Amino acid sequence: MTKSILITGGAGFIGSHCVRHFVKKYPDYPIINFDALTYAGNIESLSDVDNLPNYEFVKGDIRDAELVSSLFDKHNIDSVIHFAAESHVDRSITNPIDFVETNVLGTCTLLNVAKTKWGDNLDNKMFYHISTDEVYGSLGTTGYFVEDTPYDPRSPYSASKASSDHFVRAYHHTYGLPILISNCSNNYGPYQFPEKLIPLMINNIIKEEPLPVYGDGLNIRDWLMVTDHVEAIDVVYHQGKQGETYNIGGNNERTNLDLVHALCDLVDKKLGREEGHSRSLVTFVKDRPGHDRRYAIDAEKIKNDLGWEPRYTVEQGLEETIAWYLENTEWLAHITSGEYQKYYDKQYKS
Ligand code: NAD
Ligand code: DAU
Repeated sequence: MTKSILITGGAGFIGSHCVRHFVKKYPDYPIINFDALTYAGNIESLSDVDNLPNYEFVKGDIRDAELVSSLFDKHNIDSVIHFAAESHVDRSITNPIDFVETNVLGTCTLLNVAKTKWGDNLDNKMFYHISTDEVYGSLGTTGYFVEDTPYDPRSPYSASKASSDHFVRAYHHTYGLPILISNCSNNYGPYQFPEKLIPLMINNIIKEEPLPVYGDGLNIRDWLMVTDHVEAIDVVYHQGKQGETYNIGGNNERTNLDLVHALCDLVDKKLGREEGHSRSLVTFVKDRPGHDRRYAIDAEKIKNDLGWEPRYTVEQGLEETIAWYLENTEWLAHITSGEYQKYYDKQYKS
């Protein structure tokens, strides 16, 4: 059945991969990419699909109920896949209110428009909310996050995402809005803004600049290649059971230090540098306040119920990602000009 899908945050990192995947794979689905183009949004990331007939970009803010309502009317929207968010933990520590406004108020605004526009006509409707494993808090050396792990968010970012998840479930239970939620682990891959660990390190390794590792470097993340994530989203969207939550992970736990070392060695090899050259750039810096120690997803539910598993090992994914950044230095130079340098200096040099 054809779907008319509003993808919010489709100019961001994961959203752009999702837009590309849906526009190409489902030429019968009209895809409306709705994005405010904040510092994290970059429409250049979709230059390869922007001429396709089933794709349209609309610039706007998810808190603008009037504009969102007009899009529902104009495009007969029957699904929302909601990525738009402030997504960086460090920025949430500096500017928590921005996260409440976009992640909480923005999500509620979208839910309310969907509820109003769809009314009782809920056949073939879906509000799919993209969330994070950070809502579950921090793990010790053992254990995994499952779908019913109690929420325990610990940063302003994760608190705002937890709140948005609760509102999505509340609209389902109170008003019967058809919803899906997935909570995933750390994504990486092409087109990621270099404020997040992997692209920031690749950029600095290329430029032979210090590699700022927070604290002791032993915090652990579970790395998920973005294209694996998008395939999981496709499966959840088409086959997920209404009202359910699915955890999506990469089965690729690494300490930050091991990951940074792997990036150093891979880039050095590709650039023909001497072995160990970039590892010497690692610099331990002040820890992130409230830094969660370990995240790890148990992705058995999505595997057993919907048959999805990640394809990439982190080694394969890093190879591909590094190759992409080395081939797309212009994209990287563009994204790191101007505002980025101010952010970088404030975060790392003050
Ligand atoms: P991103 O920061 O790269 O992109 C966010 C996008 O949202 C940008 O294009 C930005 O312009 C847009 N946006 C921000 N505020 C907006 C507003 N008020 N109105 C409309 N658009 C707005 O984020 P990402 O890494 O692609 O993450 C996408 C989603 O996935 C987020 O909801 C995030 O919480 C979630 N998530 C991300 C990861 C990860 O590792 N990146 C992991 C788990 C969950
Ligand atoms: O777990 C999912 C989450 O992953 C998403 O919900 C967030 O949107 C996404 O930003 C990401 O959050 P993290 O805080 O885990 O990602 P980040 O890339 O900022 O940091 C990854 C780890 O690397 C973390 O332990 C902090 C550390 N780090 C990060 C940066 C930017 C450093 O040591 N140095 C750095 O310069």
